[in-house]
Amino acid sequence: MSEPTFDVRHLPRPEAYAELTASLDAILEGIDDEVAVMATIACVLHHGFGHLWTGFYRAVTPTLLRVGPYQGTLGCLEIAAGRGVCGTAAAERRTVIVADVHAFPGHIACDARSRSEIVVPVLDAAGAVRAVLDVDSDRLAAFDAEDARGLEALVARFLGPGVRGAGAGR
Ligand code: SME
Repeated sequence: MSEPTFDVRHLPRPEAYAELTASLDAILEGIDDEVAVMATIACVLHHGFGHLWTGFYRAVTPTLLRVGPYQGTLGCLEIAAGRGVCGTAAAERRTVIVADVHAFPGHIACDARSRSEIVVPVLDAAGAVRAVLDVDSDRLAAFDAEDARGLEALVARFLGPGVRGAGAGR
């Protein structure tokens, strides 16, 4: 079997996310297991875009995030709600884009090469935060509103409550 390639760096961002979403639709067909889904999303995004760190922190209590499936160098194990970019996104239940992590008060540097970051909350049916998707780049200002839209649609489609396979349509 030939090795699948997911490199989408040559594509405009919306097409890149559409391409990876189509790949994930095929790969995750019939899979209803959160860890398997998170691990596969992290892998496909990480290698698709060549990110520095790509993965999930899970809300194990209302005030604590613990690392989940990821790709990249060693991530910190736990982040308190409200701390760092991940804890801010979780506490405020919104996507946070940081163009320059050195200018973000309280940024938690797991990898010194990190320069910019986007964190997208994963919500349950009641709107509570189940997890966050954290993506880090070694380039300044690597993420914009197109990434926010692409990643939010992706987590809604594959990890959102009851929308698996229904198509987030955004
Ligand atoms: N930078 C994140 C912490 C997680 S790691 O970078 C993998 C933050 O400030 O929340």
